Amino acid sequence: MTTKHNTESVRAHYAKLAQTYDDKANPACKRAYETLVRRTLGDCTRVMELGAGSSPTLDVLDASFSVACDMSFPMLAARNAAPDAHRFTADGQCLPCVDGAFDGVYSINVLEHVPDPIRFVAETARVLKPGGLFLAITPNGDAEWLLDLLERLKLKLPEGPHKFLNFTDTAALAGDAFTVEEHRKFLAFPAGPEGLVNFLDGLGGCKKGWGLFQYVVLRKQG
Ligand SMILES: C[S@@+](CC[C@H](N)C(=O)[O-])C[C@H]1O[C@@H](n2cnc3c(N)ncnc32)[C@H](O)[C@@H]1O
Repeated sequence: MTTKHNTESVRAHYAKLAQTYDDKANPACKRAYETLVRRTLGDCTRVMELGAGSSPTLDVLDASFSVACDMSFPMLAARNAAPDAHRFTADGQCLPCVDGAFDGVYSINVLEHVPDPIRFVAETARVLKPGGLFLAITPNGDAEWLLDLLERLKLKLPEGPHKFLNFTDTAALAGDAFTVEEHRKFLAFPAGPEGLVNFLDGLGGCKKGWGLFQYVVLRKQG
C-alpha cells in the first residue's frame, strides 16, 4: 500500500530501523543484489552507492575509489564496513558532488522512497561521466499486492513511506540522459539457496523476467 512520503518521513522511518536493518535484511535478496552489482559495475573505478544505508554491498567491488551516500545518518553510521571506507550524508535529489565524478552509481531499494525519482535520476546522470553506468534495483510495483501481503505476514521488512514504481515507470526514468542497457524483473521466490532462486527466476521465460523486484542498467549518453 502506497503511503505519502517526503524526505523527513523517510528519514524518521530509517532512524528507527537503523540498528538492526542489515541483520534483518533477506539473505537471498542480498546475494542476488551483490551478484548484480559485481556483474554490472565490476569494471568501474569510481563508484558511489546512493541510499547505501547500513549495507556493506559496496565492499564486493574492487574500485579504486568507492563511497556510500545516504540521507539517513543513523543508517550510514550502522554500516559495518572497512574503517577507511568513505561515506557521507546527502539527499540523492541534490548531491554535493562535481559533475562527472563517477563511472558507476547504484541504488538498491531506494527509488521507491524518493519523493521525486526523476530528479534523483537526473542528479545521478549529472555526477556520472559520459558512458558511466547507473544500476537501480527497486521493488516491482506491478507485484504491489504480493509485496504488501508479505509485509503483513512479517516476511519482509516494513517498507515505511514509499511509492512503488511499476515496470513501465521505471523504464521511463532513463529520459534523454540515459540509454537502457538492461531492464528485468527478478527474485520471484527470494528464499533458499542461490541455485534455487536463480532456477525459479529462469522459469519466468520471457525476456523481461518475473519477480517481486526489478533492476535497470542505464548508460549515460554522450
Ligand atoms: C530500503 S533502505 C535500503 C538500504 C540499502 N540500499 C540496502 O539495500 O540495505 C532505503 C535507504 O535509502 C535511503 N534513502 C531514501 N531516500 C533517499 C534520498 N533521497 N537520498 C539518499 N538516501 C535516501 C534511506 O535513508 C535508506 O537508508
